[in-house]
Amino acid sequence: MKRIKYTEDLQRQCAEWRAKGLKVGLVPTMGYFHDGHLALMDHARSMCDKLVVTLFVNPTQFGPNEDLDAYPHDLERDSQLAWDHGADLLFAPAPEAMYAPDHATWVEVPELAQNLCGESRPTHFRGVCTVVMKLFMLTLPHVAVFGQKDWQQLAILKRMVRDLNIPVDIQGHPIVREKDGLALSSRNAYLTPEEREHAPFIRKALLEARKLAQQGETDALVIKDFIRQRLGQTMPMAEPDYIEMVDPNSIQPIMAVADSALIAVAVRLGKARLIDNILIKVD
Ligand code: PAJ
Repeated sequence: MKRIKYTEDLQRQCAEWRAKGLKVGLVPTMGYFHDGHLALMDHARSMCDKLVVTLFVNPTQFGPNEDLDAYPHDLERDSQLAWDHGADLLFAPAPEAMYAPDHATWVEVPELAQNLCGESRPTHFRGVCTVVMKLFMLTLPHVAVFGQKDWQQLAILKRMVRDLNIPVDIQGHPIVREKDGLALSSRNAYLTPEEREHAPFIRKALLEARKLAQQGETDALVIKDFIRQRLGQTMPMAEPDYIEMVDPNSIQPIMAVADSALIAVAVRLGKARLIDNILIKVD
């Protein structure tokens, strides 16, 4: 595996592979790999001839008071893991290599970015779309894999690709979890042992809410209220940022469960902001 820092090298190598007719897969990440990232790499690996993993803590998707500077990192460990999981290239640029000082171009999908995480992070998805678009242009991948843990991000990127006719097959990968149900996240590293013990109650509340819906409760207000109560009982030290029910594709709030619905939550627990979601399908 090659580790590279410069955009020109990434572009040259990927163009060479494409010219040879090889299928290129891309897994964009911000590093500090866990089994969720590694599952994305394995999935991409199984669909392509050459796997590019990118590791870039993208400053433009962080707000002024967010954890950009504290974001955990371990490049040596990540390089070894990417290598173990079949990466042919690990692209780990410095911010200056990705953004000119007078960078002025942005890609946005505002309609899908208003709710859920977009509400408390108003510029977040603009940063995500812009950096992912740049990574697509540098790599020109045939396929790119993203996790369903960040469901809104995945929905936005699918819409961006469709709306702008970008020839990339976007694949979503199911959420990878700890045995106790907590969705894996690089930010779980911020949890104290006590917080970590309580964190799985987020998943438990979502599973119970889905059961409620499957038993016939369709009212979004009732279901959301149920989750709020369960979280209040099981993890009183947590502060829900949002508890929402939305259409899984448009990310618009829905008042009642129809054919399908996504329940998404963000919870502040100590220094961490944890997100999770669950899809409800009614036949
Ligand atoms: P990051 O948080 O590092 O996540 C990289 C990819 O791993 C994303 O597609 C994310 O959805 C996926 N992922 C994270 N935890 C997961 C889990 N428990 N199960 C399955 N997939 C999981 O998301 C980003 O980085 C950035 O916004 C990025 C897309 C790289 C743009 O900067």
